[in-house]
Amino acid sequence: MCGIVGFVSHSGGGITYILHRALKALEYRGYDSCGIATVHENRIYFEKDKGKIDEVFVQINPEELPGPLGIAHTRWATHGAPSRENAHPHLDCSDSIAVVHNGVIENFLKLRKELTSKGHNFKSETDTECIAHLIEEFMSNGCGIFEAIKKTIRRLEGSYALAVVSARDPGRLYCARNESPLVIGLGEDGNYCASDIPAFLFWTNKVIVLHDGELATIGSESVAIENVNGLKIEREPVVVSWTADMASKSGYPHFMLKEIHEQPKALRDTLKFKQQTIDKFAEIISQAEQLYIVAAGTSYHSGLAAQSVLSQTIGIPSQAIISSEFANLVGNSLSENDVVIAVSQSGETIDTLRAIRHAQSKKSKVLAITNVLGSGITREADLVFYTQAGPEIGVAATKTFLVQLTTFTRIALKLLDNFGTNSPAYTENFREKLNQTPQALNQVINKLEIKTKSLASFLAEKSNAFYLGRGVSVSTALEGALKLKEISYIHAEGYSAGESKHGPIALVDEGFPVIFIAPNDVTRKDILGNVMEMRARGAYIITLGEEGDKELAQVSHQFLDMPQGFSLPFSPILYVVPLQLIAYYTAVKRGYDPDKPRNLAKSVTVP
Ligand code: G6P
Repeated sequence: MCGIVGFVSHSGGGITYILHRALKALEYRGYDSCGIATVHENRIYFEKDKGKIDEVFVQINPEELPGPLGIAHTRWATHGAPSRENAHPHLDCSDSIAVVHNGVIENFLKLRKELTSKGHNFKSETDTECIAHLIEEFMSNGCGIFEAIKKTIRRLEGSYALAVVSARDPGRLYCARNESPLVIGLGEDGNYCASDIPAFLFWTNKVIVLHDGELATIGSESVAIENVNGLKIEREPVVVSWTADMASKSGYPHFMLKEIHEQPKALRDTLKFKQQTIDKFAEIISQAEQLYIVAAGTSYHSGLAAQSVLSQTIGIPSQAIISSEFANLVGNSLSENDVVIAVSQSGETIDTLRAIRHAQSKKSKVLAITNVLGSGITREADLVFYTQAGPEIGVAATKTFLVQLTTFTRIALKLLDNFGTNSPAYTENFREKLNQTPQALNQVINKLEIKTKSLASFLAEKSNAFYLGRGVSVSTALEGALKLKEISYIHAEGYSAGESKHGPIALVDEGFPVIFIAPNDVTRKDILGNVMEMRARGAYIITLGEEGDKELAQVSHQFLDMPQGFSLPFSPILYVVPLQLIAYYTAVKRGYDPDKPRNLAKSVTVP
């Protein structure tokens, strides 16, 4: 939630353009207001307002924001409504220190009271503003800017990624982090800091990850890192394989559509990535007394599907638990013999990080599956597998669901190889099918995109929809419903088809859309019964089933035919994709921007 960037250039020109462009790549982190501050000849220039980045920047005259360095921010409101006053940057009393911040300062009320009593004048309701005034306070007591920032962060409780500029120091910017992501980019034309790598990918892929409790001083040709205790840190940059093109729309109208189309490649890349790490995961899982999968949002749905995949294919029981409920549910029952797999696209979801910390406090082993290099999760887990989706910018997760599930399926295959009691033919067929998923997915998209578009025109007029499945397809149903509700704002519920008779069916009347996920597995027969029940009450039946399933097609008003031979564990990987397309085209038809759904952010760093 919230994105920050900073840039110090060699040449001194084009700062507004660069910060605008960098900020756009972070828009997925929040988009209710934004702002920018630059430093030129011992003065801070700034602009900020409520609204999306392009709306605000169109009003900014770059000539009026001169200087070789600056910081910028895109906001997802936590403390204080979206407004000009609450937008970042926040400045001290004399407008000579500007701060942008991602995170939550938990003791801000106390700090604000203390600073107000010392005469500081607050202009916003935010927790962030106290940082600017605290730095000012330390500087007025004789500290230099860096020392003042260091003293300030020792007083802060909570999470923060900060970038700070001072009018007294027109050649450098300062940043610090604790529990909120911050990366530094080393470019040809200068150096960057940002909440996430895509912000500066257009200019550089050389990255230094800042760790918790560290501060950096960034000049146009130098970066110096030290920790809060003054220890100097030498850290080599890593070169990431992501490219600027991956973080742009490449001709697609929205990131979400581009990312849906990138899924076959994401699967292919994830299928061939680091077999050694998969082997290690399998070994650790095979020794677990209890196995838990913790995640939030879409990642939780992939965890739920993984639960079925592991139990149905290799007979390993596990429990997928929503991260925010993990500590409450498992409490003290965890032990050092248990294994917790944390799944997170961003690697920054605070609830998932807290679940990890709970597991570690009980000495359980923690494995992580994430998409983002250097993210919080990667530093806290015992072992990490990086999914190969490339950057995912659309707020609604798409390709990361598929690659997370592909990772679990690879782990299941390794377990089958090592411990499976199934026939060799079963394991070989499993391997073959897994390797065929990228190609099968290509066919699904080519064949069904137009049909999903026309279905979207029908759904766009509706106020409700049910998504029903059984077994592993409950997770597909949950994910399909989540996609529809989060970007098209149509009320949608994913449910177990069996359980739908215990309540949801009461809502069904003439024309109520019910979408069934009905692959050709052991659940198909029962699903057919559920279709008939819904049909008898007037529901409009949309079914995803195997090509050639005439019986299902006949009882459906719309039938989406999926490739033959991809049932458990592969069905969620393929069947979720038409549901993503339906949600995407429904949102577009209703006139909404699927990349920036209201009230949502891609990485949720507050509990
Ligand atoms: C937010 C995003 C979702 C995402 C969820 C979990 O709600 O909008 O798309 O699935 O967070 O995020 P994670 O990064 O932990 O997978």
